[in-house]
Amino acid sequence: MRSIDDLDVSGKRVLLRSDLNVPLDLKGSGAITDDGRIRASLPVIRKLSGRGARVIVLAHLGRPKGADFAERAAGGPSLRPVAARLGELLGRPVAFAGDVAGPAAEEVTSSLGDADVAVLENVRFEPAETSKDDAERAAFAGRLARFGELYVGDGFGAVHRKHASVYDLPGLLPHAAGDLVLAEVAVLRRLTESPARPYVVVLGGAKPSDKLAVIGNLLGLADKVLIGGGMSYTFLAAKGYEVGNSLLEADQIPQVRAVMAEAGRRGVEIVLPADLVAATHFAPDAAHDVVPVDAFPADREGVDIGPRTRALFASALADAATVFWNGPLGVFEFPAFAAGTRAVAEAITKVDGLTVVGGGDSAAAVRSFGLPEDAFGHISTGGGASLEYLEGKTLPGLTALESGS
Ligand code: 3PG
Repeated sequence: MRSIDDLDVSGKRVLLRSDLNVPLDLKGSGAITDDGRIRASLPVIRKLSGRGARVIVLAHLGRPKGADFAERAAGGPSLRPVAARLGELLGRPVAFAGDVAGPAAEEVTSSLGDADVAVLENVRFEPAETSKDDAERAAFAGRLARFGELYVGDGFGAVHRKHASVYDLPGLLPHAAGDLVLAEVAVLRRLTESPARPYVVVLGGAKPSDKLAVIGNLLGLADKVLIGGGMSYTFLAAKGYEVGNSLLEADQIPQVRAVMAEAGRRGVEIVLPADLVAATHFAPDAAHDVVPVDAFPADREGVDIGPRTRALFASALADAATVFWNGPLGVFEFPAFAAGTRAVAEAITKVDGLTVVGGGDSAAAVRSFGLPEDAFGHISTGGGASLEYLEGKTLPGLTALESGS
């Protein structure tokens, strides 16, 4: 992949695909609750602008619904507040176009001066961005391409999406990978090519169906896989334990059993919770107790790992030389149920080796606990993207950046 150091960007209009998909407080003020991805996009914007490029940022926010631009724009979410936050962090004005490929984008992109920065509206307001129809996506990419002379792909969190601004657009312009994408890929490569042992993987989050493929692929590399959070209840159910009203993907039980059997054959230890926090219902102030996994009440739901599991996971991490962590171990957004996720995050900060936090909720959790980001080797901006990379899948956005001019 070419880097932006290989492009002459001075005075050129550069279409920069970033991942600015930040969490918003949608039940309250709509405010940005974690601006980590905006911060992660700053270095490449500063570099391009510092070299005199006219930077036009393309990004998505959420998964808007609706038949066309007008319907989607009415439902939101708009990138306008994200553009405003970007301007604050850059310490300079950032222009905003209220459409993606229409007259506002035309006007904003044509009036940029050297070193200026603009953000176009949520690219997913255009249904063609995510279309499965290649011709439809290509036509939309063509409409975007006329705004730029060069393309830079720096939205690592979206490189697993075969979307117009990620996959089709780079084929229409001279292009390069941004520094964030290059850094993310370099770290993930270290996790898949001869990682230092012991290699401990920690997986949480809601659904085993999202993670079974990655576990399957990591069985050839990892020494231990620690499983907590919502997905652990399906593993516990597969072992015959009662899980009450906890999250359960009953249809995944056969696949979970197959993965556990394969781990056994390969000598990889799968470590499951020994105790859980069982709450009466899903609420921040729900009554709750710590229970051993073999005595889970049928009318309760699991919301965190318990203290014995926290200690078990911390001791499994203590001598690790490589760690990859994806997914919270409990409902960390509720302070009463954040102890498990916090304990694992803290244990990872003490590891002497390469530690990688795999994006999304885990990265947000690290920041919400106020842990220093430099206590981790790398905090990925890509949740799904880093998992798909570790699954060994081909990522369309990387393929596009690797090919052509
Ligand atoms: C993410 O949040 O992982 C990326 O921004 C991709 O978003 P998506 O899952 O909605 O495609």
